[in-house]
Amino acid sequence: MNDSVEIGVGILGFGTVGAGVVHTLLQKGDLIAQRSGVRPVLRRIADLDITSDRGVHVDPGLLTTRADEVLDDPTVDIVVELVGGLTAAKQFILKALNNGKAVVTANKALLAEDGHEIFAAAEANGVDLYFEASVAGGIPVIKALREGLVANRIDRIYGILNGTCNYILTRMEQEDLPFDQVLREAQLAGYAEAEPGLDIDGLDTAHKAVLLASIAFGREVRMEDLFIQGIRDFDPADIGYAAELGYRIKLLAVLKEVHGSAMIRVQPTLLPHGHMLAEVNGVFNAVMVIGDVAGPTLYYGAGAGRFPTASAVVADIVEVARNLSLDAGGRLPAQIRHLDPPAVFPVQDSRARHYLRLGLLDQPGALAQVTGVLSKHHINISAMLQKDQIGGAYLPVVILTHEAQERDLVAALGEITALEVSGPPPVRMMVEDRV
Ligand code: HSE
Repeated sequence: MNDSVEIGVGILGFGTVGAGVVHTLLQKGDLIAQRSGVRPVLRRIADLDITSDRGVHVDPGLLTTRADEVLDDPTVDIVVELVGGLTAAKQFILKALNNGKAVVTANKALLAEDGHEIFAAAEANGVDLYFEASVAGGIPVIKALREGLVANRIDRIYGILNGTCNYILTRMEQEDLPFDQVLREAQLAGYAEAEPGLDIDGLDTAHKAVLLASIAFGREVRMEDLFIQGIRDFDPADIGYAAELGYRIKLLAVLKEVHGSAMIRVQPTLLPHGHMLAEVNGVFNAVMVIGDVAGPTLYYGAGAGRFPTASAVVADIVEVARNLSLDAGGRLPAQIRHLDPPAVFPVQDSRARHYLRLGLLDQPGALAQVTGVLSKHHINISAMLQKDQIGGAYLPVVILTHEAQERDLVAALGEITALEVSGPPPVRMMVEDRV
């Protein structure tokens, strides 16, 4: 299509995702022009390393090691930030916005930590800021929330948002492999963050949950207000116990609006076999959104990796390019244009079902002491599993509770840990069977 409008694109960061974006733009230029009437044209690509082979051929004249050559290039209309991290990426984005350029970014950590300042800069400069790739890789869930569900009040969101953790849990379950080996393989496959702690400590999931919550609830959400438990200390024994009780374990983000306040937990969670989210395996992500008009809707797809993420980045580039071609830039998603101040429902007051695994001495009355503590704190047991001793001093005792308040659970676990019959610290996870 010859009459498509050319829009200049500059890329910061030519790593796994950057190379996927470049490849996709080069391969899909005609299709995009045909479908959208715009043709994003690569003008500059900056990376500290411009010599490694990325498996994609680009004109070497486009490559530079200096970010400013992208940010100050008058032919670049859209800056795509794929550097990641906080400090340099923030400077680049702010400079791009202040130079009047639209920005597309996949940087969930930066937006979750410093989004307020960045959104304000986009608003002040009247330019676009899009970030679809920052949540759930190739799944266009931000667009769904922003546009497809615009008429809904969002009550709840359940998300499997970290491909690395889901890949690790799935392979541990299906192939009985140890945690460290599967993590290494996820890193080799390019799913994991450079700092794997972001994945396995639940922080990456939390960053994405913050962004989803801002859009869904129209309210600023701060990382420090989230309850976050990752899978770093995950013990494969719990996979088997959960399975015996009819559950599968996923690292789940649960976002709820309670009495006008946001309540967000990120936690390994037992989901009943047959639950749609329990069937999401490998590097796949899924987001279930419950709106008051549409009811539940479910979004599923690859949450990490070069091309799924590139698909989301390119979709943003095309949307921004269309806005620019229609002289309609500055369409910062309305839901985040004027975020309400933070209002947090205290996690201590939240209620959930729980999975507990205790190690108890094999002696009369040990269990009675535990159930006594639980009863004292109003925690009602719904199912229990006790295993015979197979070596080791302590018997594994697994308890599923009915809904209990977090405050009561913490107090009860503190007392149980202090019992003389108690061994290693109890393991706790959430149980979510309501959707
Ligand atoms: N490390 C992230 C994940 C990459 O595993 O989901 C995509 O954000």
